[in-house]
Amino acid sequence: MSSVSENLTVTFSADALRDFCRQLLTTLGTSEPHARIVGDSLVAANLRGVDSHGIQMLLVYIQQLRAGGINVPSAGRVESEDGVFLRYNGENGLGQVVSEQCTDHAIRIAKQHGIAVVVTNHSNHFGAGAWWGEKLAREGFLAIVTSNACPAVAPWQGETPILGTNPLCVAVPRLDGRGRWLLDMATTTVALGKLSHAAHLNQATIPREWGFLDANGQPTTETAAAQKGKPTPIGGYKGTGIAMLAELLSAGLSGGNMATELPVYRTGGDPLGISHCFIAIDPKRFLPPGQFEKRVGDLADMVKASKPAPGYDEVLVAGEPEWRSEEQRLKAGIPVPRKLWERFTAVAAELGVTPPAGAAS
Ligand SMILES: NC(=O)c1ccc[n+]([C@@H]2O[C@H](COP(=O)([O-])OP(=O)(O)OC[C@H]3O[C@@H](n4cnc5c(N)ncnc54)[C@H](O)[C@@H]3O)[C@@H](O)[C@H]2O)c1
Repeated sequence: MSSVSENLTVTFSADALRDFCRQLLTTLGTSEPHARIVGDSLVAANLRGVDSHGIQMLLVYIQQLRAGGINVPSAGRVESEDGVFLRYNGENGLGQVVSEQCTDHAIRIAKQHGIAVVVTNHSNHFGAGAWWGEKLAREGFLAIVTSNACPAVAPWQGETPILGTNPLCVAVPRLDGRGRWLLDMATTTVALGKLSHAAHLNQATIPREWGFLDANGQPTTETAAAQKGKPTPIGGYKGTGIAMLAELLSAGLSGGNMATELPVYRTGGDPLGISHCFIAIDPKRFLPPGQFEKRVGDLADMVKASKPAPGYDEVLVAGEPEWRSEEQRLKAGIPVPRKLWERFTAVAAELGVTPPAGAAS
């Protein structure tokens, strides 16, 4: 399926994009199962409306793969395991492939002991935290997932980029198969990739609330100026604090590279040495089965019962915007910015892969 809307986007079914991602990755030497993990997780982000961490990221991975910056066949190895604690070495494999292994270990350990703390060093970008948080939550665990990222953000009161946009995701198990709460966020006001997505859509301006600074450190709403500048920590110094927490859980515990020990992203052939942390907690170790899930629903109901503030129709809880997008995009398809798609078709032509039908129209 493919259709053109207002000439700015081209729309595809999730299946068509998954297949395309898989083909691009296998052409670059990735095994079929590994390509599937990467493609499926990226397209899932697009379905959820998180276009910053959808197929847009694949172009960056392809750049790294072509520059020899990723150890393509590696899925990493266990460095140490001690009770509920496991340290993994990603051996510079694809971030999603490493994270698949780490989350499998977290599920195995937490099923036995009620909790698992799995950390990995020497990984790569793992996409949206929600994919991993949801995987653990589907198995009945309260999941906490963090990653560090290449330096792009100045700490509060600083000017030099030191920290990454270090994501934090917290996911919870649910009773009804649908979610009641899923927090998945950058520790900057928004993910950096939102800016690239806006640029791909030819949007000259971005919302002030996105908190971008221009090259002179001044707040800006101009897309081009923000691309030369940097994002700001969420909530000022508190955001820098949470970014450091993500850094310590991921790289601090795994012994991986921290902050400026990582290279600046998108440099091609250098290993990035990114670290992640996956914590799984079994609520049944505290409460009878189903009780925690019910309490999550109760809490969400209480929050949503707030009278909407002027200008709003309702109160949302984290996760709701993405589940709504998923429902809509599963029916209507995923709109891909035409500018981004043109870049994909150029890469596909170089690699001898045929893009989904009608994409170049
Ligand atoms: N791998 C990496 O290095 C990396 C780095 C940074 C971010 N990311 C990913 O980027 C993605 C996007 O991050 P972001 O911070 O731009 O997301 P965002 O700002 O769009 O949303 C953050 C959270 O706020 C919730 N939310 C949004 N609107 C809401 C509302 N009106 N009421 C209540 N809750 C609301 C969302 O459900 C989500 O849980 C995430 O998937 C994150 O994991 C990855």
